[in-house]
Amino acid sequence: MKAARDPADADLQGLLAQAGGPELTGGDETAWIEVIRRMDAIYADLVHYQVALEEKNARLENAQRFIESVISSMSDVLIVADTRGRIQQVNRALERLTGRAAADLVGGPLAGLFDPACAARVEDFAEHIRSGTVTDCEVDLLDARGEPTPIAINCTPRHDHDGRLSGLVVTGRPLGELHRAYDELQLAHERLKTTQQQLVQSEKMASLGQLVAGVAHELNNPISVVYGNMHALKRYEGRLARYLEALHGGTPPAQCEALRRELKIDRLLADMGPLIDGSLEGAGRVGDIVEELRRFSTPVRQGRQPFDLVRVIRTAGEWVGKARRVPPALELELPPRLPLDGYEGYTHQILVNLLQNAADAVEGRPAPRIHVRLEQAQGRARVVIHDNGPGFDESQRLRLFDPFFTTKPVGKGTGLGLAISYSLATETCGGRLSADNHPDGGARFTLELPLEAPA
Ligand SMILES: Nc1ncnc2c1ncn2[C@@H]1O[C@H](COP(=O)(O)OP(=O)(O)OP(=O)(O)O)[C@@H](O)[C@H]1O
Ligand SMILES: [Mg+2]
Repeated sequence: MKAARDPADADLQGLLAQAGGPELTGGDETAWIEVIRRMDAIYADLVHYQVALEEKNARLENAQRFIESVISSMSDVLIVADTRGRIQQVNRALERLTGRAAADLVGGPLAGLFDPACAARVEDFAEHIRSGTVTDCEVDLLDARGEPTPIAINCTPRHDHDGRLSGLVVTGRPLGELHRAYDELQLAHERLKTTQQQLVQSEKMASLGQLVAGVAHELNNPISVVYGNMHALKRYEGRLARYLEALHGGTPPAQCEALRRELKIDRLLADMGPLIDGSLEGAGRVGDIVEELRRFSTPVRQGRQPFDLVRVIRTAGEWVGKARRVPPALELELPPRLPLDGYEGYTHQILVNLLQNAADAVEGRPAPRIHVRLEQAQGRARVVIHDNGPGFDESQRLRLFDPFFTTKPVGKGTGLGLAISYSLATETCGGRLSADNHPDGGARFTLELPLEAPA
């Protein structure tokens, strides 16, 4: 119904007549018209307010639906409670987790949702939020089967429009999946560690295999010398026994003299000294090799100790070279001595790895050569190993020290040599290990060791 703002007097008369109203005189008429005008204006305002109210209502409903859809889509649980810990609102995630409807939960105690073992902590939330928030507190919520299920909850205070504390808001993230994923990750990590240890072990065995070949070759020389000398001494023993028997058995002096010449007793006596010295030297060399082997093979027990880096470089070079059918030429540019206070066994292991790699790189190439230079600068010893192999391209250079990076065929290399050497050189010995291509071609590895390793 829409009233006209300016009705004709005639119409007004007609209306009053229809309503059985009094017949209007001139003064009454003006007053009535004024009243009706006011009513009309008020009515128009009312209509205007109603339209605005309906619009606001629609907007409010939209906003509420939006908030509800957001809250019910949350995968985290949401609980709103008053300051006494009575539940006022929950979301769908909590309904799903507890297997209970919101209507059933609202009005109940917040602590009732949790395992009795955690109830006391949850009851404390109301106190805690007066002084701040509760962050990432792990508690057990009772799930649909009444079983405790771990969730990490945050609890924050809620204030009314006057800024007064009116309750608390709890959000929680179920940790079951996270715990399971964590356990699986832990298991996978353990398996990986075991596999890695096995690989490291097999890489050690492979290096050991090569080393044993070198050591066997090293031992062969002094043992052959001792063996040969002993055979000679054995023969001399027989001749001496014969001569002494004749001498002490009453044989005439002339015959004894003839026997002495026949058995070459004088030469035999002159020979015995060098034979014994040679054997002693050979046995001493065997002892040294065994001692070196012992030092290298027991790195776990080794601590920091003084040693001569020059000697370690020489031994590593000998072991690697002797293990090859065609050993590369080893050019050593070393000072007479360079004493270090560090880890001899690890240093030996690094050098053997680097020299083995260099020997592999030059294998089958014309005039294979490995050059080793040792110098001392700025409190460090620097060993530069340069070979005349093919070197490496940029993409290889970036991955040289990665575990398992190898360009060698299966069974020939595990790709752990440089990774292990790098960690020994940097972490254990407090030094540096780097690689580049030499300007004249071939690979160049630089190992730097502090003159005094960290304890
Ligand atoms: N002197 C070198 N010249 C050229 N390439 C090299 C040299 N040293 C190492 N490399 C490259 O780096 C790779 C990784 O070396 P690393 O010592 O880590 O493993 P590997 O020698 O392949 O195997 P492993 O040492 O376990 O027997 C090698 O496969 C090779 O491609
Ligand atoms: Mg290697």
